[in-house]
Amino acid sequence: MTIYLDCNATTPIDPRVLAEVHRCFVEEIGNAGSPHEYGLRAKQIVHTARDQIARIIAAKRNEIIFTSGATEANNLAILGLFDHGVASGKRHIVSTQIEHKAVLEPLSYMKNRGFDVTLVPPASNGRVNADAILDAVRPDTLLVSMMHVNNETGVIQPVADVAEGLASPDLFLHIDAAQGFGKDLDPLRHPRIDLMSISSHKIFGPVGIGALFVRRRRDRDIPLTPLMHGGGQELGLRPGTLPVPLISGFGLAAELSAAEADARRVACQNIREQIIAGLSPLQPIYHGDEAVSLPHVISVSFSGIDADEVIELLTGVAAVSTGSACTSVCATSSHVLSAMGVAQPELDGAVRISWSHRTESSELQTSIPQFVDRLSRMMSPQ
Ligand SMILES: Cc1ncc(COP(=O)(O)O)c(C=O)c1O
Repeated sequence: MTIYLDCNATTPIDPRVLAEVHRCFVEEIGNAGSPHEYGLRAKQIVHTARDQIARIIAAKRNEIIFTSGATEANNLAILGLFDHGVASGKRHIVSTQIEHKAVLEPLSYMKNRGFDVTLVPPASNGRVNADAILDAVRPDTLLVSMMHVNNETGVIQPVADVAEGLASPDLFLHIDAAQGFGKDLDPLRHPRIDLMSISSHKIFGPVGIGALFVRRRRDRDIPLTPLMHGGGQELGLRPGTLPVPLISGFGLAAELSAAEADARRVACQNIREQIIAGLSPLQPIYHGDEAVSLPHVISVSFSGIDADEVIELLTGVAAVSTGSACTSVCATSSHVLSAMGVAQPELDGAVRISWSHRTESSELQTSIPQFVDRLSRMMSPQ
């Protein structure tokens, strides 16, 4: 049986969440916008989920806008500020070179339409320096958009330091928290954050649902223009019938992630140690600084083997990936590791191994020796 080690691409749904999603599909048949009792029940379920999600990032219920996932949330946060940028003459955006394509692509859309985008590079340890981000801010900066945790290396970015250093109220701060939400919560509660993207399928919830947190201040609303137009749901920012079962599952997954965050972290750390000890005969080259990383992912190269070969060699043993799921499909080498200055042979060989608190240590005991055996045969052909 192939062990699943690609939890940064997507996590298996938690059985408790699956039971709730199933219950809603079967029992809660109403549209949350309908006035009758089925509709009111559905509306109540959506309220509860909104509260569950809002609570863990110190937000209010009306600050959670449900979307299809973090990609859509990122697009709404960035492209949604286009009109305001044009109207106010603020056409500069600061971001980083290690963002997910779901941020880089909306940024290049803005760039192609007259915006100026500064992408700050990371240090070789995978972390972008907070001062480098703050130094890039100009009087005409509309938005700073940065990720919380990198999807390839697991390196935690200095969100709170950037939030602390951004004095100007005229500038918006967006955080792509797809990989850290539910795992490293403190920085995400910073009151300077204006917009934040989160995703359910990264935290053992159903795929196809996520949210954009949009801060509502008494003195200043965030001037987002919706990307779609329709029935006015989600305060007009994201119209469309709400997928109540998915939302309910997302709410429960979020609540469980916060309640169990410490235990999950310890379990992941133990698995990390098991994996690192098991792989040591291969003399792996690790990318990114472990001291500032979440403990459920490693980016690693094995001397002389290309990433595609690693993946093929591991067929039937372990499912690992070459970077972000999109990057794998796009068959390009990692822009994240390249920005960190990783040399070409290691860049070509880099694979991402990511697990969760639910990864079975006993399964690893069987699969890691097979992993080592298959790769070492390739590294030193007989
Ligand atoms: C950092 C980051 N941002 C955004 C996304 C996109 O999230 P979703 O799959 O919910 O659209 C991902 C998914 O891998 C991610 O890792």
